[in-house]
Amino acid sequence: MIGAAKQVVKEYKSSRNPFIKLSIATLSFCWYSVKNIKRFFVDTEFRSILLLQVFSSKNVHQTTPLTYMDRYPEIFSACRDYFGDKKDLKILSFGCSTGEEVLTLRSYFPNAYIIGADINKRSLAIYRKLPVDNKITFIHSSSSEIQKHGPFDAVFCMAVLQRKPHYIAAKGISSIKKIYPFEKFEKQIIELN
Ligand SMILES: C[S@@+](CC[C@H](N)C(=O)[O-])C[C@H]1O[C@@H](n2cnc3c(N)ncnc32)[C@H](O)[C@@H]1O
Repeated sequence: MIGAAKQVVKEYKSSRNPFIKLSIATLSFCWYSVKNIKRFFVDTEFRSILLLQVFSSKNVHQTTPLTYMDRYPEIFSACRDYFGDKKDLKILSFGCSTGEEVLTLRSYFPNAYIIGADINKRSLAIYRKLPVDNKITFIHSSSSEIQKHGPFDAVFCMAVLQRKPHYIAAKGISSIKKIYPFEKFEKQIIELN
């Protein structure tokens, strides 16, 4: 039945009749609303991102929590070479998502103090369950909380200061002013600095 309804919507989408056009637009809007409401209740990742967009829109950068172990081996190795065996190294993983970046950093910097910070409370709940040593601390990201743990010798801020890069590339959007204004990026860099 849903397949048939979708087919009808497809067929009538380009209709010249304004009444049909309006009806199809209303139907599509209702359909997407119902779909998203359902998703809000069953998909915890979707819900956490939506809540961030609504309640932390001023502070949130990239919303997707995509991450994996050893994502940037060249950068991590270069940093390890740079610091050598510096004592009491303190590292911030800003936007650590579900913690894989912090676990990776531990393998590159076996003795460092590592602070992982993320703004997404769902990720926070996940990384707080990770079995880590006592030189790793996970915090909920906020200026004051980060400041309490600083200063840092290195700040890894990977795939954070951006918004929807794949969507932007696919759509060929040339100005991201409305999606991710430069001022937001600049403010965060100043704050981390
Ligand atoms: C694509 S993930 C990157 C994860 C990891 N850094 C990596 O490169 O694999 C982006 C992360 O940035 C986080 N983020 C966005 N705004 C943030 C903020 N203001 N403070 C801390 N984390 C933030 C998101 O919640 C998300 O987990």
